[in-house]
Amino acid sequence: MEKSLIILKPDAVQRGLIGQIITRLEQRGLKFMGMKLMQVSPELAQSHYGEHEGKPFFGALVSYITSSPVVVIAIQGKNVVQTIRNTVGATNPMNAAPGTIRGDFGLEIGRNLIHASDSPESGEAEVSRFFDASDLITWERNTDAWIHE
Ligand code: RTP
Ligand code: MG
Repeated sequence: MEKSLIILKPDAVQRGLIGQIITRLEQRGLKFMGMKLMQVSPELAQSHYGEHEGKPFFGALVSYITSSPVVVIAIQGKNVVQTIRNTVGATNPMNAAPGTIRGDFGLEIGRNLIHASDSPESGEAEVSRFFDASDLITWERNTDAWIHE
C-alpha cells in the first residue's frame, strides 16, 4: 500500500494551523499511520531536500524547515501520494487553486506551509527517514468500508 510523508512546516505550526490542516486531511478520508511534533536537524533537512542541493533557494529552504518545530504525519492507502498532492496544491501558493491547503492559507513559495511526498518511491523513503518502524501503526478503521469501495 502506498505511503506519503506530510510535514506541517514551521509556519503552519507557528500560525496555529495544525488543527485546520489535519482536519482537511482527515475529512478527505486519509488514514494516518504515524504522527509527531519534532525539531528537524540541519542533517535531516539536507537529506530530505537533497534533490535541491545546489539550487539558489537551498540554504533558505534548510533554514526555514529547521527554524522551529514541525509536525510530521505518515499516511498509508490507495493512491495517497497523488491524492495528497492535489489536496496540498501547487508549490507556489500564488498559483495554488482555492480550496487547496496552500491556496487557502499561503501567499509565498518560501512559506508554503506543508510538504507532501511527490512519488510512491519518495513516500516510502521519506516515511522511513522520519519514523522508526515501531512508531508506525497499520490499523483497521471502522469507517474504511464507507470510504473505500
Ligand atoms: P515540498 O517538497 O516541500 O512538498 O514542495 P514541492 O514538492 O511542492 O516543491 P519542491 O520543488 O520539492 O520544492 C521544495 C520546497 O522548496 C521551496 N522552494 N522555494 N524560492 C524558490 O524558488 C523555491 N522553490 C522551491 C518550497 O518551500 C518548496 O516547497
Ligand atoms: Mg518536493
